[in-house]
Amino acid sequence: MSAKLWGGRFAREMAPELLGFHSSLPFDRRLYREDIEGSIAHARMLGRCGILTAEEARRLEEGLRQILEDWEGGRLDLAGREAEDIHSLVESLLVERVGEVGKKLHTARSRNDQVALDLRLYLKRALAGIAGQLRELEEVLLRLAEEHREVVLPGYTHLQPAQPVLLAHHLLAYFEMFLRDLDRLGDCYRRADVSPLGAGALAGVTFPIDREMTARELGFAAVAANSMDAVSDRDFAVEFLAAAALIMAHLSRFCEELVLWSAAEFGFVELDDAYATGSSIMPQKKNPDVPELIRGKAGRVYGHLMALLTVLKGLPLTYNKDLQEDKEALFDTVDTLRGCLGIFIPLLATLRFNAAAMRAATARGFLNATDVADYLARRGMPFREAHALVGRLVRSCLEAGRTLEDLTLEEWRAYSPLFAEDILEAVKLERCLAARDVPGGTAPQRVAEALAQARRRLAELVAARPGLFPAGKS
Ligand code: ARG
Repeated sequence: MSAKLWGGRFAREMAPELLGFHSSLPFDRRLYREDIEGSIAHARMLGRCGILTAEEARRLEEGLRQILEDWEGGRLDLAGREAEDIHSLVESLLVERVGEVGKKLHTARSRNDQVALDLRLYLKRALAGIAGQLRELEEVLLRLAEEHREVVLPGYTHLQPAQPVLLAHHLLAYFEMFLRDLDRLGDCYRRADVSPLGAGALAGVTFPIDREMTARELGFAAVAANSMDAVSDRDFAVEFLAAAALIMAHLSRFCEELVLWSAAEFGFVELDDAYATGSSIMPQKKNPDVPELIRGKAGRVYGHLMALLTVLKGLPLTYNKDLQEDKEALFDTVDTLRGCLGIFIPLLATLRFNAAAMRAATARGFLNATDVADYLARRGMPFREAHALVGRLVRSCLEAGRTLEDLTLEEWRAYSPLFAEDILEAVKLERCLAARDVPGGTAPQRVAEALAQARRRLAELVAARPGLFPAGKS
């Protein structure tokens, strides 16, 4: 049967091809739970405020609860049902179940405040799910950093060897990115946590409703202050897509490093067999398809962000059907993000780091050149001159196929009398690491402190965002 919500004003039937074109049911049916919960709160409020009798409200609530249970239990046969959207579908199911009184549900409500409500409820749940995954990822990073406290590798700029760093320091850089992401999701949650219900079509409703009651029952922190904004606003969805785009950017950069690091030329990591793939023709291959695919999916999420921004651009107040285009962008972003995190976490947790290969790589690339320039600068040579002198030294080493560690004191002193016995120590890898002894630096003691602080900061963030982490503390 058809569940058209309007018709009185129309003399002719809608063109049959229109239903398939404008129906959102194929994708908004996943909002069934939010839609029904919102309707239950609305019906209870109508009863409480005397807009419907207590008995009418009770029958509506009862019918809606049954529909929700049957839907969740897979007992509803929805095949062949035509409806414009999830809202009209639920209303028609209700009328079939409870009779005429079902037609009273939509008193003092519009699909415009209803759909905004459903989306906000949906997003709040999705945010909590994603936050849980990000927290798990953070814990894996902390564990790996802890377990690889001694491992050293080259740090790069322009993908050229630059200065030595601890692997733990490198991993904690990702910890920082994902901690900001978590924080952003928390901000996004706060702005999604506002109830639009009661805005009606756009201007408010003519019944004495209680907006606070529905907001409270549905777990919202506040009620939208302006009815016109309440039905037009999709900022919360854009903010989420932007936060999701950044999470994908961070995952993608990490994945890019895993692709590089697992290449034979680096050999810094090896993917567990369970998270790697082979070639149909080259028997020897072990390919990083999974990190590549995550890297690729970042593009898809960026696309959704751009799509929604473009949909919103230039829309006059208030509701316009263009807004229906928000859903697929939102849903696919949630699915993509959850899917990527769900695979990336175990991939990372099972990764094997090759400490020897990383260490060997630090012997190439003159990672200690800055330290030699710093050495001269500490002894009074202007840094710019020191830089030029060390540049010449590096060039002559390159020509002779030697490293700075190979030079004898006499050779050093031929370049500058400022060099003394201790230069032979100063160019050693461990000394170069330990010398970066500033807050946020890679000196082992600083990294140990950063690791302890990272644990604390994660726990604080979890405690400060009860919406994202409903179960509370760790
Ligand atoms: N399916 C619509 C959407 O997703 C629901 C709201 C429809 N409202 C309207 N006035 N046509 O936006």
